Amino acid sequence: MTQNIERLRDAMTEKGLPALLVSQIDNVQWATGFTGSNGFLLITPTDERFITDGRYTLQAEKQLAGVRVESYNSGVDGNKFIAQNAIDMGVSQIGFESDATTYSSYEKLKSSFNGVQLTPVEGLITPLRAVKTPEELDKIRRACKLADACFEHVKRMVQPGISEYDIGLEIEFYFRRNGAQLAFAPIVVSGERSASPHGRASEKKLEKGDFLTLDLGANLDDYCSDITRTVVVGEASDRHREIYGACLRSQLAALDAMKPGVLAKDIDRISREAMGDYAQYFTHGLGHGLGRVVHDAGRMNSTSDTVLEPNQVWTVEPGIYIPGFGGVRIEDDVIVTANGIDNLTGATKDLLI
Ligand code: GLY
Ligand code: MN
Ligand code: MN
Repeated sequence: MTQNIERLRDAMTEKGLPALLVSQIDNVQWATGFTGSNGFLLITPTDERFITDGRYTLQAEKQLAGVRVESYNSGVDGNKFIAQNAIDMGVSQIGFESDATTYSSYEKLKSSFNGVQLTPVEGLITPLRAVKTPEELDKIRRACKLADACFEHVKRMVQPGISEYDIGLEIEFYFRRNGAQLAFAPIVVSGERSASPHGRASEKKLEKGDFLTLDLGANLDDYCSDITRTVVVGEASDRHREIYGACLRSQLAALDAMKPGVLAKDIDRISREAMGDYAQYFTHGLGHGLGRVVHDAGRMNSTSDTVLEPNQVWTVEPGIYIPGFGGVRIEDDVIVTANGIDNLTGATKDLLI
């Protein structure tokens, strides 16, 4: 039994939910530690079962010690199999994840769960996922260390003439050589291209006077990191320094304001205020939760009523993107602590030239 199953059970009890079918695979993996691609968790106040297909029987039995695993073979209707297991568990009413179920999946569930009342459930798991367990924090810390090391490694390659592709490839090699996967395709954008927050690496070669933004993250042991630094290729002009300075001011103000009890939207506002006139070029939210997936539960933007709590992990990533010139983003990964934050990102924020 995992700690996250217990936390989910407590949340169900609080809401008076007699049973829940967890079907969204990231949520299933979060609750159980299963790493395969097909799995479902049936959970009641006193019991739970894990359902998967024959490809994953042995793996699930190994990864879910103490949880009963039932698997179906090819040719068996998965929905009917899940429903039958729920009925065997004595379930007559069950919640399903309405925010992660397509209309056609719902129709199939409905016809399989004949005689069982299906109740839509939304937003039950997200706030739980946002607050990490000590084991999860440990894994995220390790993924962050690897991202820092990768940045140290690739920044040495930065010089006029080298292509964005080459840098992107080196980031990937570095992570893979160190036993990790990419948390996402690295963003390597230079010159005018750096004004695109999520541009991909291209064959463009670095030139003197370019801003170069590197956004990279590892997925190590199923947990992610996500950091960004912008450097200048060759000499930095006053304009480079001014834009970089505004972005850094914004990030430091946000980091400084983060502590339990504060609303995510207030941190977002503080970051924009600290940017001054450049805030008009800050076109995305300030950050997001980080965990099993790079955009994990939680958003830090102008409308987010999420309250900061200890052991949430956030990215803090203001950016300034000036069309026709270029852009800057500075992204750190932080844990909310009892009275502030623990910044997991060590890469320097001095403007590297
Ligand atoms: N690397 C994607 C992001 O920063 O959200
Ligand atoms: Mn990023
Ligand atoms: Mn990010």
